[in-house]
Amino acid sequence: MMKTRDFGPSGMKFTAIGLGTWNMEPSPAESVKAIRAGIEAGANHIDTAELYGDGKVEEIAAEALRGSRDKVRVVSKVMPVNASYEGTLKACERSLKRLQTDHLDVYLLHWREEDTRIGETFRAFEKLKEQGKILGWGVSNFGVKDLEEAERAMGKGKMVCNQVLYHLKERAIEFEVIPWCKAHGVAVMGYSPFSQGGLPASPAGRPESPALKKISKELGATPAQVTLAYLTRDPAVFGIPKSSHADRTLENLRSADLALSKKDIEAIEADFPAKPRKTLPTL
Ligand SMILES: NC(=O)c1ccc[n+]([C@@H]2O[C@H](COP(=O)([O-])OP(=O)(O)OC[C@H]3O[C@@H](n4cnc5c(N)ncnc54)[C@H](OP(=O)(O)O)[C@@H]3O)[C@@H](O)[C@H]2O)c1
Repeated sequence: MMKTRDFGPSGMKFTAIGLGTWNMEPSPAESVKAIRAGIEAGANHIDTAELYGDGKVEEIAAEALRGSRDKVRVVSKVMPVNASYEGTLKACERSLKRLQTDHLDVYLLHWREEDTRIGETFRAFEKLKEQGKILGWGVSNFGVKDLEEAERAMGKGKMVCNQVLYHLKERAIEFEVIPWCKAHGVAVMGYSPFSQGGLPASPAGRPESPALKKISKELGATPAQVTLAYLTRDPAVFGIPKSSHADRTLENLRSADLALSKKDIEAIEADFPAKPRKTLPTL
């Protein structure tokens, strides 16, 4: 059994590390195997979206979840182009069909466009919740201004999470977004923890991080595991690495067993200093 943590105000418990699924469509069979291995090892949530592979990834997830749907929290996302009131209700139906399930555990607005009327999207989310088609809802790629607007529109305790970019070279959310989310009881899901595969192998400007190398050796872990342990060191923050390889998926999940010391954390931060940004970094 992997340890779980409270997932915002949702009443649900999520493992610190879940299963990302973006870009799985080029290798469906391997991806199904990787997801199944992850579930068997105890990962209890999977992150997908209608956007991924134009719906194909939700179908891959359905295949992987056959027989174990009840063990896994399914998170999917609606694109802003579909996020009107009616559009959101319809997009959810399509996702449910592709995922071969009767409900999503969490439904997110993938990102906000200038013309996205978030009040409409959230009203649709509440309707879906009433109908039992989703158990909770949240947002993605929201900075503090948008989070405040969302909370003002719906009240506290409704939005369960904010999914945002978070990796060793992009720690900007530590300045405002994480503190806001913690103060308002919203879970943070960090996406692209390996910078889409760019980390931990090759941090910009140096072939390898001395801290990652040293700590991995001391703990008998891999740099990928140390990276994930660092990124999920705060119990309000969850990681969703993607791998289409079962061995890497298992490696990533085992990061939950690592305990980094204060000294380890400081050494990692010295190699990857945090920089504030004027706007929220996204991919
Ligand atoms: N809300 C949003 O806007 C948003 C944006 C981006 C991502 N996401 C979510 O976050 C998830 C993760 O982000 P991501 O897919 O962008 O990138 P990522 O998880 O940072 O990196 C994935 C890449 O790392 C490789 N990898 C995974 N584990 C590894 C390991 N232990 N050692 C070496 N390489 C490893 C994978 O290769 P293999 O697959 O070949 O193993 C893949 O190329 C996505 O899948 C998606 O669910 C959300």
